[in-house]
Amino acid sequence: MTASTLLLYISLFLGLQILLGVAYGLTRQSSRPATLVALDKTQQNERPNLAWNGFRAFRVARRAYEDAAQTQCSFYLEPVDGLPLPAYKPGQFLTFSLLLATKGAAARKLIRCYSLSDSPTPDQYRVTIKRAMAPAEPVGLPAGAASSYFHDHVHTGSTLQIGAPSGRFYLNADTDTPVVLIAGGIGITPMMCMLRWSAQHQPQRVVHLYYGVRNSAEHAFKAVLKEMAVKQPQLRLHTVYSKPLPEDRQGPDYQHSGYVDLVLLKKTLRHVAHQFYICGPTAMMERLVPDLAAWGVANADIHFEAFGPATVSLPTEVTEAQGKAASAPISVHFQRSGRTLSWSGQQSNLLDFAEAHGIQVESGCRSGSCGSCVSTLVYGTVGYDRSPDFDLAPGQCLLCLGKPLEALALDA
Ligand SMILES: Cc1cc2nc3c(=O)[nH]c(=O)nc-3n(C[C@H](O)[C@H](O)[C@H](O)COP(=O)(O)OP(=O)(O)OC[C@H]3O[C@@H](n4cnc5c(N)ncnc54)[C@H](O)[C@@H]3O)c2cc1C
Ligand code: FES
Repeated sequence: MTASTLLLYISLFLGLQILLGVAYGLTRQSSRPATLVALDKTQQNERPNLAWNGFRAFRVARRAYEDAAQTQCSFYLEPVDGLPLPAYKPGQFLTFSLLLATKGAAARKLIRCYSLSDSPTPDQYRVTIKRAMAPAEPVGLPAGAASSYFHDHVHTGSTLQIGAPSGRFYLNADTDTPVVLIAGGIGITPMMCMLRWSAQHQPQRVVHLYYGVRNSAEHAFKAVLKEMAVKQPQLRLHTVYSKPLPEDRQGPDYQHSGYVDLVLLKKTLRHVAHQFYICGPTAMMERLVPDLAAWGVANADIHFEAFGPATVSLPTEVTEAQGKAASAPISVHFQRSGRTLSWSGQQSNLLDFAEAHGIQVESGCRSGSCGSCVSTLVYGTVGYDRSPDFDLAPGQCLLCLGKPLEALALDA
C-alpha cells in the first residue's frame, strides 16, 4: 500500500466517523424535542387516549370529609395496575360497579356515577360522595344504598371497580367567554373540577361560582374555595345559604341568603353574555334552565347535568318524543319476558314503564349516563327528550331516557 493510498483510507475513515457523529447528534437532537413535547402535552392534559373498556380495579388511597357535617366525603383513587390514567374533561364522571353484600341475602349489584371533583392527574382520580339520607316521608324508607356503602364500608385500601371517565357535561375550553357555574348542594363536585382546571389552563378567564347550600354545616370545600378566590382574582364567589345557622355570618361565611335564582343572577351578572353550567337538585334545575332561556341566554350557552332522574329540557326544544307523546297508546313487546304491553304515555320513559309492569331491567343512574339500561331494539323507533351522555351503537336504545315513537320490540 502506497503512502497516498494509506492517507486516502485514513481520510475516508475519519470522514465516516464525522458523518456518523453528526448523524448521531442529529438523531439525539430530533428525539429530545419529541420527548419534551410529549411531556408538555401530558402536563397540558392532552395525554394519549388511555381509556379502558369495562371496569378497572382501583384502590382507595385516602378519604377525607369536605364539610363540617361529614356528609360529603372525598375518595382518592389509584389504579391497582399502576399504569397511567387517561386525562378527562373538566366536568366528566366515573361509573362504579358495586357489589353490596347484605346479611342473609344475595349480594346486590349497583351501578352509580360520581363526578370527578379535582383536576386531572396521571396517577389519581378523586370523587366526592354525599350520603343520601332517607326521605322524611314516608317514614321507614332506607337511606341511599350506594352512598351509604361508600361512607360506611369504603376505606383506605378498599378496592373498587370503575369505568373510564365519560360524560358530555364539561367546560368548553375553546373560548374565553366568562363562565357561570351554578351548583346546588353536591352539584358542586363537577364545578370543583372545572374551577381547578380553569385556574391551571385559562387563568385569565372570569369564572363566577354560585353555590347554593343550606348553611355552613353542609358548605363543602369551604376553606379550599376561599383560598382559591384569594389566589385567583378572576374567580367570583357567590355563596348562597338557604337556612343560615345562628353563628353563620353574611360576608365571611356566605354572600347571599335564599336560593340561587334569576333575580340574584340578574342583579350580580347584569348581562347574558356568559356560558352557564348548572348542576344541582331537580327543583333548582327545572326552574333555572327555563328562566335563563327566558332571560335571553342562547340554548348553546346553557349546559346542565342532573344527578338522577330529571326532566329538564330547554323550553324551545320540542323533541320528537314529546311531539309524538299524544299519539299513544303504542304497543311495546318485551321479547325475553314474552310480554306485550300498551304504552299510554303515563310513565316518563321505557325503564319506568318496564318496572311498573314487573319487568326486571338492569339500570344504574336512570339519567342516561352509565349505559346499564341499554337494550337491543328488535324493531320500531325510540325517541329521546335529551341525548344520552354517550353514543349508542346502531340497533340499540336507552330505556331510562327513551319513549316509543311507534310499535316496538325490545330484547328485554
Ligand atoms: C352523571 C352523574 C354524576 C353524579 N355525581 C355525583 C357526585 O359527584 N356526588 C354524589 O354524591 N352523587 C353524584 N351522583 C348521584 C349518584 O350517582 C347517586 O345517585 C347517589 O349517590 C344516590 O345513590 P344511592 O345508591 O346512595 O341512593 P339510592 O339507593 O339510589 O336512593 C336514592 C334516594 O332515594 C331514597 N329511597 C330509597 N328507597 C326509596 C323508596 N322506596 N321510595 C322513595 N325514595 C327512596 C333514598 O333514601 C335516597 O335518598 C351523580 C349522578 C350522575 C348521574
Ligand atoms: S340507567 Fe344509566 S344510562 Fe340508563
